[in-house]
Amino acid sequence: YPITAPDDISDCVDANSGINDPDRAFRGLKCCPPASATGPIDYVLPEFSQLRIRPAAQRLTPEYVEKYKAAIAIMRALPEDNPHSWKQQGKIHCAYCNGAYNQEMNGHPELQLQIHNGSLFYPFHRWYLYFYERILGKLIDDPTFALPYWNWDNPTGMMLPSVFEDPGPNGNPRTNPVFDPFRDVKHLPPTIIDLQFRGQESGLNCVDQISANLSTMYGQMVTSATSTDAFFGTNPDPVNGTPGTIESGAHTSVHIWTGSSRMPNHEDMGNFYSAGYDPVFYSHHANVDRMWKIWKDLKPNSNQDPTDDDWLNASYVFYDENKQLVRVYNKDCVDHNKLGYDYEPSRIPWIQSRP
Ligand code: C2O
Repeated sequence: YPITAPDDISDCVDANSGINDPDRAFRGLKCCPPASATGPIDYVLPEFSQLRIRPAAQRLTPEYVEKYKAAIAIMRALPEDNPHSWKQQGKIHCAYCNGAYNQEMNGHPELQLQIHNGSLFYPFHRWYLYFYERILGKLIDDPTFALPYWNWDNPTGMMLPSVFEDPGPNGNPRTNPVFDPFRDVKHLPPTIIDLQFRGQESGLNCVDQISANLSTMYGQMVTSATSTDAFFGTNPDPVNGTPGTIESGAHTSVHIWTGSSRMPNHEDMGNFYSAGYDPVFYSHHANVDRMWKIWKDLKPNSNQDPTDDDWLNASYVFYDENKQLVRVYNKDCVDHNKLGYDYEPSRIPWIQSRP
């Protein structure tokens, strides 16, 4: 059976850390969405007249930076019980990753729904960003608004994009709505990211770190991503899937590298429950989502989406930009152009970086 988020979101329960280390385990995380008067309706992709073009974060114009910050500022100011609020949008990640839902509709009420470590990873996050972007666009009344992507696979994007760290006028961090204090202070610009980071500094100088990153990208996008299962990961069966090359690789490294090493659970980016509370999360995942597109474009004949019914029919529930609760399916998100967005092109230098 496909993995299915519950129809009745009031079945949502307190979440937990999902980490086996008892010193770190915590329970009682409140991640459930606000109640809805009606159950979810199947989502119909709306018509659009213009694609939203997601820009590379390191190339944002000052006007775009202002627009983006304005949208996030409005979202942050919404009351917490509004499904569009900053808190609620961040909680979505916690709910789908830390056991707030079970798999009752899948015949396994004893199992928690988990969209990581397997082939739900790309489609779930694609839908998550899709609604987040549309909500922000609605808040500033701009139907072309598109999320900036953190272009960490290109040397010009291999540091925390400056928009996220800019302390704002007068050096006051609180004046930048896309700043988050829970980040690793050792990893602010101009530190080059390590796409293999697992908690230990690599010690490489920046030139060598950049070339190591390009080889890492080649390895995870080409050398070891030679099949649909390898790239996407495999379906939960229903207990466990296996993660795809980018999910377990560069994606996880960016999370750990960004989160604060002084926080007990590497908040915000370094933990499932808190990752959605850092604005950079959505830009990070925009680039992950871009990798899905790039991988298919690299070898259109062999690099293809999963085709099994359980994957195609897996579904999640979100509030759309009109606060309607909707159910969305993997099968409806495989073509990002139909979702009304695309990525501003950026060179892909790792394609020449076969180790
Ligand atoms: Cu849902 Cu990057 O994790």
